[in-house]
Amino acid sequence: MSESDRMFKKSAEIFPSGVNSPVRYFSPHPVFIRRASGPHMFDEDGNTYIDYCLGFGPHILGHSHPAVAEALKEQADRAISPGTANRYEQELGQMILEATGEEMMRFTNSGTEATMHAIRLARGYTGRKFIVKMEGCYHGAHDYSLIKTGSGGITFGSPSSRGIPPEVAGTVIPVTFNDLNSVEDAFRNFGKNIAAVITEPVMGNAGVILPEDGFLEGLRDICDRYSALLILDEVITGFRFHYGNYQQLTGIRADITTYGKIIGGGLPVGALASSKSIMRYLAPSGSVYEAGTFSGNPMTMAAGTAALNVLKHSNYSMLDTMSEEILGGIIRVLRNNGLNATGNRIGGMFQFFFNTDAVKNYNSAIKSNSEMYMKFFSYSLENGIYFAPGQFETNFLSFSHTAREIDDTLKRVEISAEKIA
Ligand SMILES: Cc1ncc(COP(=O)(O)O)c(C=O)c1O
Repeated sequence: MSESDRMFKKSAEIFPSGVNSPVRYFSPHPVFIRRASGPHMFDEDGNTYIDYCLGFGPHILGHSHPAVAEALKEQADRAISPGTANRYEQELGQMILEATGEEMMRFTNSGTEATMHAIRLARGYTGRKFIVKMEGCYHGAHDYSLIKTGSGGITFGSPSSRGIPPEVAGTVIPVTFNDLNSVEDAFRNFGKNIAAVITEPVMGNAGVILPEDGFLEGLRDICDRYSALLILDEVITGFRFHYGNYQQLTGIRADITTYGKIIGGGLPVGALASSKSIMRYLAPSGSVYEAGTFSGNPMTMAAGTAALNVLKHSNYSMLDTMSEEILGGIIRVLRNNGLNATGNRIGGMFQFFFNTDAVKNYNSAIKSNSEMYMKFFSYSLENGIYFAPGQFETNFLSFSHTAREIDDTLKRVEISAEKIA
């Protein structure tokens, strides 16, 4: 029996399914990671993995980047979480505003909190009740997000969670990503009662799905026509493709943007940002409540500041080159073994699908053979490759990955492909 096996048996008595977030679970049991550094993770049994899950996205610099680790050690001696205004939140906040062109922001402790508060802010600001959301987009684990959600919601077959009152679920209108007609329909039916449209600009929770030309522009236009707000959830995409947000690459501007993952340097974080006139609706100046004991805590701020200072001088094009190589290589290996495979990628985000057709939205994503993906995942894990543990997750690359890891991965996945063919 392996150490991970033993540890899982114990964890399963402490935590439901032995994990503290459902997407970390996979059959027969997750491996227990003791150490993680650069592109590698090391488990309790002495196995090494090349990691493409990267903590589900924050570690764009690789695990435990020395600048981040050093900043944390220094900050621990200064102040950990005084629960007060502090210079560390000011420093990181200023960096984010300058990089993204946002006017004002607030830190939260997770992406879940950020989108939950962004939705409340949109409702408070417009005085309207309905939210339009894309099927298969995941915005965290709160009630307004868990309607036709992505990520573990698809993997574990519960895209709409039990425990959400129908009165609440009824205020969220699911529509189809890359289908403006479905959004127009929602507005025709609920028009002046829609507070906001929320979407990930690039879907990262039904695999990777890119917006088609004109889709985000169309959303902006519909929101403007109906005086509804556009919320872009950049928890994954913020600082992912360049030192700033995804919107800057498209020219589309959201009314409220949410951030998370990368901006915390690997510590728990989230943020919402908007114009001053909208942000001032938040308490105590305004009447929309938003709060968090640990929000803006100096440890997260120190890690985030250190990470952004490195990212500012990083050459993002290398992530794009590596994702082209690895995704192209994996699809080639799978097809050479007679398997149906397709894939999507952008910058350092990629996902391969066991699917005959192109994946453009939730409906095409769920036609993928998710069992086949998990078999491929398991054989790759045995061979020291840690892909995202679900067909509907995203694989990521970091600046610590090099051509060596990519070549090594492509050799090892040959074996996984032969085994499942
Ligand atoms: C797009 C998006 N929004 C929100 C969240 C929720 O963030 P967190 O897990 O930090 O609560 C996630 C998490 O994966 C996400 O991918």
